[in-house]
Amino acid sequence: PPKRITKVCCVGAGYVGGPTSAVMAIKNPQIQVTVVDYDAKRIAAWQSDNLPIFEPGLLGVVKPARDGIPNNRAPNLFFSTDVDRCIAEAELILLSVNTPTKMLGQGAGHASELCYLESAVRKIGEVAESSKIIVEKSTVPCRAAETLRDVLRATGKPGVDFEILSNPEFLAEGTAIQNLLEPDRVLIGSLNTPQGLEAARALAAIYTSWVDAERIITINLYSSELAKLAANALLAQRISSINALSAMCEAVGADIDEVSFAVGLDKRIGSRMLKASVGFGGSCFRKDILSLAYIAESLHLFEVAEYWRSVININEYQKDRFTRRIVRCLFNSLSNKSLAILGFAYKKNTGDTRETAAITVINNLLAEGANVRVYDPQVKESQIRRDLEGSSASPHLVRDKLTVWSSTYEACAGADAVVILTEWDEFSNKSAAAAAAGDHVQDARNGARTEEEAANGPMSWKRVSQIMRKPMYVFDGRNVVDPAPLEALGFRVESVGKSR
Ligand code: NAD
Ligand code: UGA
Repeated sequence: PPKRITKVCCVGAGYVGGPTSAVMAIKNPQIQVTVVDYDAKRIAAWQSDNLPIFEPGLLGVVKPARDGIPNNRAPNLFFSTDVDRCIAEAELILLSVNTPTKMLGQGAGHASELCYLESAVRKIGEVAESSKIIVEKSTVPCRAAETLRDVLRATGKPGVDFEILSNPEFLAEGTAIQNLLEPDRVLIGSLNTPQGLEAARALAAIYTSWVDAERIITINLYSSELAKLAANALLAQRISSINALSAMCEAVGADIDEVSFAVGLDKRIGSRMLKASVGFGGSCFRKDILSLAYIAESLHLFEVAEYWRSVININEYQKDRFTRRIVRCLFNSLSNKSLAILGFAYKKNTGDTRETAAITVINNLLAEGANVRVYDPQVKESQIRRDLEGSSASPHLVRDKLTVWSSTYEACAGADAVVILTEWDEFSNKSAAAAAAGDHVQDARNGARTEEEAANGPMSWKRVSQIMRKPMYVFDGRNVVDPAPLEALGFRVESVGKSR
């Protein structure tokens, strides 16, 4: 039988560490799971009702007990800043620290920054008095495990053994809890040695509490590391492919939603991750593709590197193309015009803004002289200002020309155009079912709703039409609105991959 783990420590209390540990603890009442982070504010937030991240269903699994109100948190789940003690006590350590793009020195702007991972592993070497299984949950470059093993060999105490596993995480923000509860697969990579295989069995036993055994895949350590980068690269590649086709649709009078629908019916292609947009964002797609391309380049595989970089190039092109279309439609000048931006997060159901297309688009619009009025249901004004000022060539434009509002109607008051950058349900005028399916074609064909109903989704587009300057434009960067009912209200609607 596999070694029975009783204490798990997860290093890094972020988007991955928090939700993953919560689900692991709920499903394994016999295991004590402690999430540690040196960021005391973040740990305090995890202890409160004001969680550090917005994620549907998250409070349902981590809410602490307070004032006699029962908790939703497993009694075996803890959050702590006492990194040393928790590492020393654990038999299995999940590393879920950040691995962003390197900003300094060799490989800056391309390679993954492994300093957070290295410092966590040095800490393990320093404080461990007993043998540990160390799990790479963070996304890492190929053969990172070998580097970590070197560090541990040099820093660990005699007689203390470390076995390194790769167990990449595939959750997507906005659906993290559901993805964790019902993963398509759990990947466990190990060395093909008796110790490596035994460690893999011990980790697999934890997942077996809620994941079918046939979905738990044990493979070679380095295949597992590469499979994570490959999955993200392939997912992003589908979006760039459909976005590249969206430019053609606009030119030839085709409709990208119909094209996606048609190609997605081919089971070999499948319908998911084929939604045209203003461009993908999020903390991982860009950094992981840059990392993959950098690895290819360092292996002298220049054509391979160029292939994957083209996925990022199309994404940049798509964001710029969207801005150019806005300028062109608004008579080639944004001076003295106001644009209402609906949505700042990189996708719906998250407050995360890392690499959001909104940053590029808004900076472009400010540089054209526009007044920009932003509303997002989850992102705080301070975050929006930090993101824009930190990335703008002219931060004074952000200070002088950008305002942040707490409702759609405030943002749209007096605006010349509405620009939808995140697909929050409240911006859509489609039926809930069609919006959830992301399927415009289906919506257009069910046709059961009256025009009045169709024009009034969760937000009232009629009310918006009464408070905007004329002529009124909607630039739909997510294809969440059905144009016909809005056009009946007097809007001119420009959707991605559709020509009017
Ligand atoms: P995050 O920035 O939200 O969280 C990382 C946390 O690690 C931070 O709170 C930071 O303070 C902490 N940390 C860093 N170094 C530490 C150390 N030495 N000791 C203690 N704490 C330390 O990052 P994230 O979004 O959770 O991503 C983590 C990893 O998971 C990345 O490699 C990412 O590529 C990968 N990943 C992320 C997602 C996602 O949806 N965000 C999904 C799959 C995989
Ligand atoms: C993505 C992957 O889907 C996860 O499997 C992976 O674990 C994660 O990256 C990671 O490694 O961090 P995430 O970035 O949270 O998850 O969200 P996605 O749903 O993949 O969306 C990424 C971006 O692509 C968003 O901006 C989204 O709006 C955009 N997108 C997505 C499209 O433009 N079209 C689509 O069809 C799908």
